[in-house]
Amino acid sequence: MKNIISKKVKDMQPSGIRAFFDLVLGMKDVISLGVGEPDFVTPWQIREAGIYSLEEGFTSYTSNKGLYKLRLSLSRYLNNKYGLDYSPDEEILITVGVSEAMDLVLRAIINPGDKIIVPTPGYVSYGPLVDLCGGIPVYIDTAKNGFKLTPEDLKKHIDRKTKALIFNYPANPTGVSYRKKELSEINEVLHKYRMLCISDEIYGDLTYDFEHTPFATLPGAKENTVYLNGFSKSYAMTGWRVGFVCGAKEIIAAMTKIHQYTIMCVPITSQMAACEALHSGRKAVEEMKREYKRRREFMLYGLNSIGLNCAPPAGAFYLFPNINRSGMQDIDFANKLLKEEKVAVVPGSAFGNGFADYVRISYATNYDNLKEALERIKRFLNNNCRDK
Ligand SMILES: Cc1ncc(COP(=O)(O)O)c(C=O)c1O
Repeated sequence: MKNIISKKVKDMQPSGIRAFFDLVLGMKDVISLGVGEPDFVTPWQIREAGIYSLEEGFTSYTSNKGLYKLRLSLSRYLNNKYGLDYSPDEEILITVGVSEAMDLVLRAIINPGDKIIVPTPGYVSYGPLVDLCGGIPVYIDTAKNGFKLTPEDLKKHIDRKTKALIFNYPANPTGVSYRKKELSEINEVLHKYRMLCISDEIYGDLTYDFEHTPFATLPGAKENTVYLNGFSKSYAMTGWRVGFVCGAKEIIAAMTKIHQYTIMCVPITSQMAACEALHSGRKAVEEMKREYKRRREFMLYGLNSIGLNCAPPAGAFYLFPNINRSGMQDIDFANKLLKEEKVAVVPGSAFGNGFADYVRISYATNYDNLKEALERIKRFLNNNCRDK
C-alpha cells in the first residue's frame, strides 16, 4: 500500500514531551519533574460520585452537549464566580477535556489559509492542530517580554487572513499569567481587528498571586471569546477526561456538529463525577492550590539560588528556568541530567522554536521529591558547569 498516511500527518512532529518520556519509562528511581498532571488523586467525594453512578446503573449515552445537570451547574457556577452569563442550552458544550474543545473550535472556524496566532513558548498541541485544519499558525516569541504577549507584538503579526488568537493563561510551560489591565489591552487589539480569542484557561483556578480574570468578562469580549476550561488540573481529574467550552451559540452549535459525529458524548460516569466536583469539590481545590503554592515558593527560590533563573510564575504548576549557566542546550541538559542524576525535566524546545536555553520543570510532585530533585540538580551543575 503506497502513501496511505496523509501528508499533513506525515509532516506532523510527535510531541517533544512524549518522545522524552518514552526514555524515562522503564528507568528506576527517577524523580520526574516532567509530567503536566497533578500528583494528587481525585478527591474522594468526586470518585465516590462516579462509583455511585455506576452502582445506580447510569451507563448510557447522554445528550451530545453533555448532561443538562452539568451544563446548568456550570452556568450557575460561572455566573456566581465571575458574573458570566452562559445559557446551558445553547452556549455550553461538555467535551473530552480541553484537548477536544481546542480541536473542535479550530475545526469549526478554520478555512484553508486562515491564520491563527499562537504565542510561544506554548502548549504543544496548538500549532499541530491548526496545521491539521489547514490553517497557518503564526508564532509570536514572547521570551523578550518575560514570556508575555504584548499588544504591540500582537498587532504586528495581524493581517487580513488572521482569524483568531489562541491565548493560554496561566500558561504552560511558563506559569505566566496576566492582570486585568494587561488583558484589556489585548482585548482592545482583538476587538479592533475583529478577531476571536480562543482562551485556554485550564489553569485559571491555580492562580496564586492575584485573581484570575476570564477573558470573556472583559468589556465587549464575551461574543468574541471561546472560553475553554475543564476539570483535569484544578480537580486532579486528568484521567476522567472532562472539559467544557462556552461561547456564542453559533460557534457552540458548529462545534457540537463535529462532536456528535466524532465523540457522541463524554462518558456519563465522568460527567456525573464532574457534577459532584462543582457541588462539593471547591474545598479540595483550595487545599491543593495551597500545596502547589508552597512548592512553587520552594522551587522558585531553590532554582534561582543555583543560577537557573526563572521569572516568578503567577499560576499553573510549572517553572521555565534558563539553563545558560550549564553551558548546555536543553536536550543535552535533559538527557545528561536524567542519566547522571535520574531527574527528568522537559526540554524547552518541546514548546516552540528558539527555547533551547530553557527546560520545563513541573512541581506537581510531592515536596520531598522536589527537595531531593533540587539537591540532585545542584550536584549536576557543580559537576558539569563551565563556571564551576
Ligand atoms: C494549556 C493546556 N491546555 C490543555 C491541556 C489539556 O487538558 P485536558 O486534560 O483538559 O485535555 C493541557 C494539559 O496539559 C494544558 O497544559
